[in-house]
Amino acid sequence: MEIYKLQQLLSEMSLQEKIGQMVQLTGAYFDKDAVLTGVVGEQLPPEWIIRYAGSVLGVIGKEKIYDIQSKYMEQHPHHIPLIFMADVIHGCRTIFPIPLGQACSFHPELVSEAASIAASEASSEGLKATFSPMIDVSRDPRWGRMMESFGEDPYMNGIMGKAMVDGYQQKSDQGVAACLKHFAGYGAVNAGREYNDVEISQRTFLEQYVKPFCMALKAKPAMVMTAFHAIDRKPISGNKKLLRELLRDKEGFDGTVISDWGSIGQLVEQGVAADMEEAAVQAAEAGVDIDMMSPAYMFWLEKLVENGKIPESFIDESAFRVLIMKNQLGLFENPFAGLGKSEKLTPYHRAKAYELTSESCVLLKNEKILPLCQKQRVIWAGPYVTSKEFLSRWSIFGEHEAVETIEDILQKKQIKAECIPGCRMLSDEECKIWQVEPERFDEPGNERWLETITGDDTVVCVLGEHESQSGEAASRAFLTLPEEQQLFFERIAKRTRNIVTVVITGRPLDLRRISEKSRAVIMAWRPGTMGAEAVVDIVYGRTNPSGKLAVSIPWCVGQVPVSYWDIKTGHIYDADHPENRFSSRYMDIPNTPLYPFGFGLSYTEFNISDIEVQAGPDKRVHVHCKVSNTGKVAGAEVVQCYYETLCSSVVRPRKELVRFQRVFLEPGEKKTVDFSIDREEFSYYDENMEIVCSQMKLRISIGNSSDHEWGNSVIFV
Ligand code: GLC
Repeated sequence: MEIYKLQQLLSEMSLQEKIGQMVQLTGAYFDKDAVLTGVVGEQLPPEWIIRYAGSVLGVIGKEKIYDIQSKYMEQHPHHIPLIFMADVIHGCRTIFPIPLGQACSFHPELVSEAASIAASEASSEGLKATFSPMIDVSRDPRWGRMMESFGEDPYMNGIMGKAMVDGYQQKSDQGVAACLKHFAGYGAVNAGREYNDVEISQRTFLEQYVKPFCMALKAKPAMVMTAFHAIDRKPISGNKKLLRELLRDKEGFDGTVISDWGSIGQLVEQGVAADMEEAAVQAAEAGVDIDMMSPAYMFWLEKLVENGKIPESFIDESAFRVLIMKNQLGLFENPFAGLGKSEKLTPYHRAKAYELTSESCVLLKNEKILPLCQKQRVIWAGPYVTSKEFLSRWSIFGEHEAVETIEDILQKKQIKAECIPGCRMLSDEECKIWQVEPERFDEPGNERWLETITGDDTVVCVLGEHESQSGEAASRAFLTLPEEQQLFFERIAKRTRNIVTVVITGRPLDLRRISEKSRAVIMAWRPGTMGAEAVVDIVYGRTNPSGKLAVSIPWCVGQVPVSYWDIKTGHIYDADHPENRFSSRYMDIPNTPLYPFGFGLSYTEFNISDIEVQAGPDKRVHVHCKVSNTGKVAGAEVVQCYYETLCSSVVRPRKELVRFQRVFLEPGEKKTVDFSIDREEFSYYDENMEIVCSQMKLRISIGNSSDHEWGNSVIFV
């Protein structure tokens, strides 16, 4: 529909109809099977809100949505279509690895393809918007939502966030509106505790946590979602400075700002609004266009406009943005755009999921044991060997029945192996904490089985968190494996050293007690629908692992938050002189994580050479190098380019990722890698919060991990 017709429509709408566009209701008011991802209060919305609400979340299904949409439009005075939204976070029916795992592929093009598949499956079942990508930089694995993010690096979150938006908002009618979230800084919650306060400097907020949003905004996402917390004690859902002045005026976002579930109403709980009326005023003045499931807009906006406390122009502005979003999705021409157009879980979707899962797995350790030979006697042990639980708490439309178990895959591939679950995923006590049903477990006398293990046997242990142990409202104070699994592993480790451990988890865990007694460790994250086959093919060498960590694996929980970009300090610890007590370190653990950002092993070897770094007259930095496969099997390496700002007026990170490129090479093959970086990308805020983007002295380094450089140069730009 042409814009002037939209303006005409807006001018004809009643105040209630316009306010309706600013309210998002849970699908529970339209469908008894709607998925709930938040708390629904006792207070029913006013009847006219249900008739005029602009969007619904949590409903899916071709027939169901066709029915709801048809009835809704029929009764609406201007027959404006609803937009159906939901959390399609890492796939709709075909489930890809969690975003934290996808980031470890260092392969944005593939991440974008996966998002495009997710959009096709979602829109085919009536969804036309997803609350994804989540690009909250996260350095603290105690926070359960790290699994939804692209890890600890701002640049990585920005690149992957942009790639996902491009994938979701594909041009065809099978695209869905994307939503960058949670603006901004949610990953820095104090002590990793969910929904906690965030205390970071304005400089850190802008340089590390807002940066990914500035990068991903270039993909023109339809929406940005506000986070629950406050920045500098002003909650974001009522924060005019951040939403109008920073996000819209400075960064140029002209799409729809949607609150998080109930976050406008929570301005009252946070003590900055006396009541819902004031909360509605603050959010409307801040320019929040859609109130997701709080009582504020639905009960107060009409009165506030009528008594002149809020100009109707605010309502017009927000309602019009929602109409534009629906128009961009083609909903006025076809309210059922994309419906029924894509099958789910097709061979192609599964193949792409297998590819991305394979590239997301990170080989952390390999003492000459992997790949295994299919003919050797191998025991696959652990609760994940016969489990379909490879999805996550944020694959709300994923189908466990579509997941093959590792046991299924081994049988299908006719690989000789014994499969012994050996213990439960969680103990009864842990099930209570994580609010899950205890699984039945009547493994007969696995002690007898343990006694059959000899020192020559090889055991692949597949262990990890339960799906419920990561995601929203899943913060943990300890990062250890579930206790039953840890004890099970210890019993095996007493009998053989030939242990390969595969870890299934939504966050980095404290792997020390596992890693030191395993000859190989594979981090598989929550691998998704094709997880079993991807893991088996890596273990037996059909796939050469190429993942690199997008987040540090801490030495222990006492070390978090930890990241490769930690800010420089004085009293620098020199590992060559441990006798110097007066240095920045722990007395009982190392400063470095167990496994660092950017690290990942392969079944082959690579070499990076011919590194050249130049500051060009075009105010760009040009980096050139060559990467070769010096081993015997094909594989992919990730060339990583970092920089350190030397002699700045404020203390800055030890190093920062500024480019990366994944390169696939046959044995003996060599390829050139070139990066061209605008000097603006090295900019930072000086002591007066003024942007510095010239006269910078930089140390540019090239490596294949944040802790392993192949060469570096100091330049001035
Ligand atoms: C939740 C989450 C948010 C999600 C929304 C809708 O509370 O914080 O990420 O998109 O509600 O489910």
